[in-house]
Amino acid sequence: MELPNWVPDGVDVTVPNVARAYDYFLGGYHNFAVDREFVARVEAVMPGFGRAAHANRAFLGRCVRWLVDAGVRQFLDIGSGIPTLGNVHEIAQSSAPDARVVYVDIDPVAVAHGQAILSNNPRALSIEADLRRPAEILYHPQVLDLLDFSQPVAVLLMAVLHFVPDDDDPAGIVAQLRDSLVSGSYIAISHVTESTHKQEIEEIRRLYDHTPTPGQPRTPKQVEALLDGLEIAEPGVVEVEHWHPYPGETDDSPGAALILGAVGRKP
Ligand SMILES: C[S@@+](CC[C@H](N)C(=O)[O-])C[C@H]1O[C@@H](n2cnc3c(N)ncnc32)[C@H](O)[C@@H]1O
Repeated sequence: MELPNWVPDGVDVTVPNVARAYDYFLGGYHNFAVDREFVARVEAVMPGFGRAAHANRAFLGRCVRWLVDAGVRQFLDIGSGIPTLGNVHEIAQSSAPDARVVYVDIDPVAVAHGQAILSNNPRALSIEADLRRPAEILYHPQVLDLLDFSQPVAVLLMAVLHFVPDDDDPAGIVAQLRDSLVSGSYIAISHVTESTHKQEIEEIRRLYDHTPTPGQPRTPKQVEALLDGLEIAEPGVVEVEHWHPYPGETDDSPGAALILGAVGRKP
């Protein structure tokens, strides 16, 4: 198969990939037939699941604006995904042009596309690294060049921790990130939950087992525990639609209720 020129060498286009499937859920074009078929299988299990991607993305945007309003000027967006509408640097730099953003993803398509769109932006960059090895992110020379860890940083972990199984100690990973931040820093997360639509989520989980990054939904309590040691901002751990919604933005479709979000501040 001849691949488009935005595909980095070595990318396997024969198995579905969560970064590319998410891109398709959001209406992007950095995906292949195998990803689109995967999305169709997920939607067959639970029509409207794709709403979760849109609700999550809207939460990300509101969160970044909220963090900028709180005075944050540095962002470390881990599991950032393939750039799409409403990227963190666009939102942050539109109201704070001095804001600096590092994108991190395990997926080479996400990183290559990020590098391409950021080539003229001296205050944003994209690197390939694995959240499960946070030290490689925190001590990455490009990260240390752009971000000043003696000042507050917002670490964004949006729709990525559910790809870190318990065996990889997600709480320990978040704690390691938290411990590298100064007081007044933030960690924002969104996470798939299983408290509603248990059976469908279990079926969808089995589909994600066929990707390189199987998924693990968590309960609100388990999500809250990931933010241990942080002060959770109001309104707490909630379905993302209910986290500081803009007027007229709430959505009661089943997909929208699948993602929990929260923001923690380091005291
Ligand atoms: C559902 S997308 C979320 C994208 C973006 N954060 C958002 O909320 O719009 C999840 C992303 O996490 C990435 N990812 C999964 N496991 C990862 C890991 N261990 N380290 C870094 N990125 C990872 C995937 O490649 C994908 O791009």
